[in-house]
Amino acid sequence: MTESIVNSKVIISANVEELASRFAKILKEDVSNSANFFNLVLSGGSTPKVVFDFLSDNYQKEIEWNKIRFFWGDERCVPPDNEESNYLMTNKHLFSKVKIPEKNIFRIEGEREPELEAERYSGIILQNVPSVNKFPSFDLVMLGLGEDGHTASIFPDNLRLINTEKICEVAEHPISQQKRITLTGKVINNSKKVLFLITGENKSKIVDTIINRKSGFDKLPASYINPINGELIWLLDKKSGKDLSLFK
Ligand code: 6PG
Repeated sequence: MTESIVNSKVIISANVEELASRFAKILKEDVSNSANFFNLVLSGGSTPKVVFDFLSDNYQKEIEWNKIRFFWGDERCVPPDNEESNYLMTNKHLFSKVKIPEKNIFRIEGEREPELEAERYSGIILQNVPSVNKFPSFDLVMLGLGEDGHTASIFPDNLRLINTEKICEVAEHPISQQKRITLTGKVINNSKKVLFLITGENKSKIVDTIINRKSGFDKLPASYINPINGELIWLLDKKSGKDLSLFK
């Protein structure tokens, strides 16, 4: 089921596997349409695991993996072998199964001093991602959504990160106080395409609040994700989309 809302598209899949399959098809098509390198931003957390497994199991040969340069939307400030690391999760579910040239993987080095790493990674992005309107423009940004409306590591208590002029900043998880490196809203909104991948009933309320601009949406970072010259697609499963009054 596909609906268009406020220049975004909502696609509800029957289950997580179907959602993963839809993501894979979009990625395959966009990469094949790309003349040069395809600059892809990966999200972290647990939702991507199913998607990465699906890609590894079904798209080994169907995607031109050598064209893709891998970046992250955020990373926890931990070493790459720490269970919390988004890189470790990606390596386990994707890179260990699909051959990716090391030079095309641009890891956020969570083991470094956070402020220095935010600076360093901003430089890496500037060097490797073409700019549009003087700001790096990724081809595709994968995002997840927290139950509190955060995305990447932009949390509700730090909405400043949506409009900061910086490319990356240091963020802090509001409960664990864990330091994170995050892309900022300006970079995300300068990309050609943003895909939210959201599953599970525990996200249904926050999804409805954001997509239908219900009371309190303006306090939520994900509400401000809307690419200036790009496309926004919400890939939901039935459970995370169940409260969308739009579809009642
Ligand atoms: C992270 C993510 C974060 C995540 C959401 C949703 O590093 O945790 O980038 O923004 O996408 O918290 O996480 P789940 O997919 O685990 O629900």
